[in-house]
Amino acid sequence: MKHTRSTLTAAALATVAVAGAGQEFIEPGRPWLDDRGKHIQAHGGAIIRHADAWYWFGEDRSPDNDPNRRHVACYSSKDLVNWTFRNQVLRLADPENFGPEWLLERPKVFHNAKTGKFVMYMHIDGRISPDHWSRYSIARVGIATCDTVGGDYQYLRSFRPLGKESRDIGQFIDDDGTPYLIFESRPTKGFYIAALPDDYLDVAREVCFIQAPLEGGAIVRYEGLYYLIGSHLTGWWPNANKYATAERLEGPWSEFKDFAPPETNTYGSQSTNLLKVVGTKQTTVIFLGDMWRPYELPDSRYLWYPLKIGGGELRIEPRQWMPGPWRIDVATGEVAFNVSGP
Ligand code: GAL
Repeated sequence: MKHTRSTLTAAALATVAVAGAGQEFIEPGRPWLDDRGKHIQAHGGAIIRHADAWYWFGEDRSPDNDPNRRHVACYSSKDLVNWTFRNQVLRLADPENFGPEWLLERPKVFHNAKTGKFVMYMHIDGRISPDHWSRYSIARVGIATCDTVGGDYQYLRSFRPLGKESRDIGQFIDDDGTPYLIFESRPTKGFYIAALPDDYLDVAREVCFIQAPLEGGAIVRYEGLYYLIGSHLTGWWPNANKYATAERLEGPWSEFKDFAPPETNTYGSQSTNLLKVVGTKQTTVIFLGDMWRPYELPDSRYLWYPLKIGGGELRIEPRQWMPGPWRIDVATGEVAFNVSGP
């Protein structure tokens, strides 16, 4: 039998698919199995809290997906460690003649309490014309909606937010529930933070443009200060991600600084989201990063780790040299490390 890349991937994933349930720790860089025993497919993703659970949405790059469609998966969890597969919430065939190489990346879902709708934003890309040199020249966002968090989302349209080229997107929901889209724009090179209108179906207003050659943007508000993280523009290859702070989203934003030893390239990961868990004893902010495997994308791993944060400082500070297994008590917000783990 001829071994193609995807058959190897399927085989590699099958060998690790033993048991998904009852996991005790979040294990950075290890295969992460869902309730079916399959490696979680939620790359470039983000997490929202809804009702009494967390929902994780991301790129579903399962080797057995229909190659003509692009897929987004949704998982739910009550403890942030054990994840139940809910649905392939988007199985989208090229909706606007983007061309055979079109791309859907970094989906992010907002819940609009006023309309009751769940609104998914996604990075849509491809060649703007068949002979264009870049597969990332369409540079738009797409939106899809659904009445339930894990249902089948209906694609609505794509556009360039604020009329700008938009590639990596991130989402930020402020403590008062206000939703923002973060998008990386070129040729200006930097992050736009943009507010959404009442129906969430457009990108209404520029809040800030932060000039910096960064992507993979994510924001968290902690003790009254905004922290923005992003990665350099090195494609699938990891680099030393950076952060900046501001008292208001409008800025001024501080200089960008490292939050992990730069020689580790953020421990081999790239920023995608920051998750704030407000517990009865402490508030914990978790860095959510992707450890991409460019030649085996379905087997890309996740690096989640609680951050040292406060007073304008942000750091991933592992107990050991590499971030090891850890867990969070989602009721209290407290974190525990398994220093004896792999
Ligand atoms: C990265 C980006 C990823 C993906 C990749 C493709 O810069 O953050 O989402 O687009 O490039 O090379």
